[in-house]
Amino acid sequence: MTFPLPHGLPGLFIALEGGDGAGKSTQAALLCRALEGSGRAVVRTREPGGTPIGEKLRSLVLEHGHGEIDARTEALLFAASRAAHVQQVIVPALERGDVVVCDRYIDSSVAYQGAGRGLDPQAVLDVNLWATNGLRPDLTVLLDVDPAEGRTRRTSGAAAEDRLESEPDGFHASIRAAFLELAQEEPERYLVLAATGSPQDLHRAILEALTGVTA
Ligand code: TYD
Repeated sequence: MTFPLPHGLPGLFIALEGGDGAGKSTQAALLCRALEGSGRAVVRTREPGGTPIGEKLRSLVLEHGHGEIDARTEALLFAASRAAHVQQVIVPALERGDVVVCDRYIDSSVAYQGAGRGLDPQAVLDVNLWATNGLRPDLTVLLDVDPAEGRTRRTSGAAAEDRLESEPDGFHASIRAAFLELAQEEPERYLVLAATGSPQDLHRAILEALTGVTA
């Protein structure tokens, strides 16, 4: 499997995407450990967040209790967090030649604010391409999860659901479909894995896909 390097920078940019409860954080941790073990400098980060302003935007947009947030405002808050993240964290790391492992990126906005909130997916993509100066991942790993299964997993530790997670299963089903459609449109950039596999099996599949790129 080969991946285009659209940014032209020496580093490698890997995004993890998928519905809530897909197991992205576990895979991010396993992947970072493996990459560090092979001698790569790795930056693990997440969206929304990753910078001081981004973390503030994260609590604004995810916590309950800030009153109504309409779809466009929500999309712009995610895009603003992403703009800061790309400028301050991701591009500097890629310029150093590091591997960036990012928990969610632009495709989350296209899926959640586009399909989920009913905004035009192309408009959401355009705003985000402007916010990031067009930076795309080299590889996007999509962990595909059934919405009901995702909800069971993320609430199993009695964790409270955030503003987006607490949306009904139908909302999460449309997001799942949107992610799968994005992956179909750009198969060369996507690795799609059913999140039902064991964490170790999923981890091995991700490493296999990266063979040659990280060598
Ligand atoms: P995430 O960090 O995956 O949640 P957790 O901290 O519980 O692991 O993502 C937070 C939520 O934000 C998730 O429900 C998806 C949503 N989100 C969007 O709606 N649009 C976006 O652009 C991003 C990055 C996340």
